[in-house]
Amino acid sequence: MDQNHWYQAGLGHIWLPYAQMKTMRPPLPVARTEGCRIVLADGRELIDGIASWWTACHGYNHPHIRSAVERQLAAMPHVMLGGLVHEQALTLARRLAALLPGDIDRVFFSESGSVAVEIAMKMAVQYWLNRGERKRTKFIAFKGGYHGDTIGAMAVSDPGQGFYDLFRGLLPEHFVVDLPVDDATTAALDAFLSQRGDTIAAMIVEPVVQGAGGMRFHDAATILRLRTMADRCGALLIFDEIFTGFGRTGTMFACEGAGVVPDIITLSKALTGGTLPLAATVASRKVFEAFWSDDPMLALMHGPTYAGNALACAAANASLDLFEREPRLAQVAALSMQMTRELAPCRGRPEVKDVRVKGAIGVVELEKIDNLDALRARFVAEGVFIRPFGNVIYLTPPFVISPDELTRLTSAIVKVIGQ
Ligand SMILES: Cc1ncc(COP(=O)(O)O)c(C=O)c1O
Repeated sequence: MDQNHWYQAGLGHIWLPYAQMKTMRPPLPVARTEGCRIVLADGRELIDGIASWWTACHGYNHPHIRSAVERQLAAMPHVMLGGLVHEQALTLARRLAALLPGDIDRVFFSESGSVAVEIAMKMAVQYWLNRGERKRTKFIAFKGGYHGDTIGAMAVSDPGQGFYDLFRGLLPEHFVVDLPVDDATTAALDAFLSQRGDTIAAMIVEPVVQGAGGMRFHDAATILRLRTMADRCGALLIFDEIFTGFGRTGTMFACEGAGVVPDIITLSKALTGGTLPLAATVASRKVFEAFWSDDPMLALMHGPTYAGNALACAAANASLDLFEREPRLAQVAALSMQMTRELAPCRGRPEVKDVRVKGAIGVVELEKIDNLDALRARFVAEGVFIRPFGNVIYLTPPFVISPDELTRLTSAIVKVIGQ
């Protein structure tokens, strides 16, 4: 079927994410991907500055991941994990356990980041129930945070970030407070915990970088403070590393850079190198032990149909091979330096509020963006795919992007802002 036909015939039947379907600009039809490029159906090539919502860390179509998935497809695409297991899932669980810090070593698979967060929340509440504590059912989450679009995940995301007000009444109520980044916010959280600490199942945070909430950075001391505060009030600490995991902030996991070990960690996005949907909720031994019992009622009653899909696990194992064999973290360090240098000309412009870089994340925060759609289209006209949101223009390129391609991205930002 030629492009014109499938596009026109299908567009009236798809409902796209985060889009006002009536007024949106028509989506760009993509024919294929190649390395760090998105090839459109009309033959234009865009250099990808986003890595498909932060997933494609090795670029697209990496031959090593492709052949691993092809081999797995021939052997077995999928079997349910109820009563069955397979080599790819067990191998991936073992490898993740070895990579993650401390004793976070029990891996529960699901198929999307939001679901991994839901599972982490369920795990945290049931951890307390299994230990006979019925009061700890609330979560502390942080302003600027984002943990997904399902009901539970929305309830621990910053209500100011989305259309969450619409759903007030449906969402369970948790406490979304300021991150303890200085004396005042630390004192405020301390005071809150001294009153309500015994109702808290867990605190949940994106360590070091809050992504979809505005690409905001905080330092390792903040993460350390959260660990101390969680310990003091007895709550668990959940790190949502769905965005920050797998090298994005400069270390394999952001918590590693901060030297802090949580009780539960969530992973997804770059887990399969941007090829197939897969997520993991990984528990520490302490958490897992609360479920280890002769009593079937103490089991974790959760089981996504496609949990541990063999193709996705094969892709993730191949992606981990690439982290072992190729100098990904050195590439992230080089990207970081290049983005710092090349985005610097944006600094000091009247419309620019801040320019910041952390690992392979480059951010130009503007005072405001009046017309996001028009700005996104400007970037496409420059031959790059960059997707600003809120008041933020950002780059999260594949780690394998060449210096020339990265310069095309940064110079498009400098040029478009200049206009
Ligand atoms: C930190 C974080 N948690 C959770 C999610 C939700 O993941 P998914 O879109 O796969 O449900 C995202 C997605 O952007 C995220 O950045």
